[in-house]
Amino acid sequence: MRILAIESSCDETAAAVVEDGRTVLSSCVASQIEMHTLYGGVVPEIASRKHVEAIVPLTERALADAGLRREDLDAVAVTYAPGLIGAVLVGVNFAKAAACALGVPLIPVHHVRGHIAANYITHPDLEPPFVCLCVSGGTSAIVDVKSYTDMEILGATRDDAAGECFDKVARVLGIGYPGGGPMDRLAQGGDPTRYELPRAHVADAPLDLSFSGLKTAALNLIHNAAQKGEELDLPSFAASFGQAVSDSLVPRAMEAAREKGYGRVAVAGGVAANSRIRADLTAACARSGDRLYLPELKLCGDNAAMIGCQGYYEYLAGHVARPDLNGYATRDISLG
Ligand code: KG4
Repeated sequence: MRILAIESSCDETAAAVVEDGRTVLSSCVASQIEMHTLYGGVVPEIASRKHVEAIVPLTERALADAGLRREDLDAVAVTYAPGLIGAVLVGVNFAKAAACALGVPLIPVHHVRGHIAANYITHPDLEPPFVCLCVSGGTSAIVDVKSYTDMEILGATRDDAAGECFDKVARVLGIGYPGGGPMDRLAQGGDPTRYELPRAHVADAPLDLSFSGLKTAALNLIHNAAQKGEELDLPSFAASFGQAVSDSLVPRAMEAAREKGYGRVAVAGGVAANSRIRADLTAACARSGDRLYLPELKLCGDNAAMIGCQGYYEYLAGHVARPDLNGYATRDISLG
């Protein structure tokens, strides 16, 4: 089954063709980062307009790269939630029109389910059940992936997402947008114990996360140093920050894995590219005996291949959109 997949939930327009869930025939991504860098963050209206401009040529390129014609497609899958609503609606409406014109089913895909599915592309042997640490610019959650389409949140952030914190701190340091990658690179060679930063615990919810205190503490540290005219040791500051994020995420993911006992742990989302988190998860899984699944770096960020992969499993489970499908800014992953 060949699925054309569309992703437009934030600042990347993406189109891909995926066969039978696991074989990526093409994957095209048009990033808007350059445009949003001017403003230090995503400007929602600009994001929507850039998706409108990019989506048709990108889809044509995805088809050409796959060596297919429109008639060769069996279904269209699209990210319908969560995300910037104007951006999501561009993809949803385009996918609806494409499915209508081709006379094929339209499959709605939850964006974070797509991030999880990136692991199926990297690891052909991976099958549910497993525990997945989902960390991106908009989400931080530990998910029980019971089957390809039956998922439950075991713990989630009460405030900011991990990626959002990387981005805010990087913006104040003036090292680029989105900030996670530059912070990660800056941290190489830094001393992660040099600056003391908090690790939050949510009372009575040991698997829940909270990053707003860490973000505020990091921003205060930067501002206090500036006020006193002190120079921060930037690599050590970035390393200390990255370590604090990893210390908040990795032990909770491992505790969830212990409770579930599947013996398999995966990570998903843009922040899954973080070298500290990857190294700490690798060490933790070596200790616990769990098998660790890391998505390849190019599949950590937003792409449509992951949507085509998850779309296949949603289709097999009978999840096909009705003609009145809408887009949603927020939606629980367990609802599909
Ligand atoms: O998954 P993604 O591309 O978009 C969402 O679905 O949100 O994630 C983007 C996030 C941004 O916050 C970015 O700063 C972060 O992923 N990110 C990283 C790294 N690379 C990207 N965070 C930490 N370390 C990285 N190496």
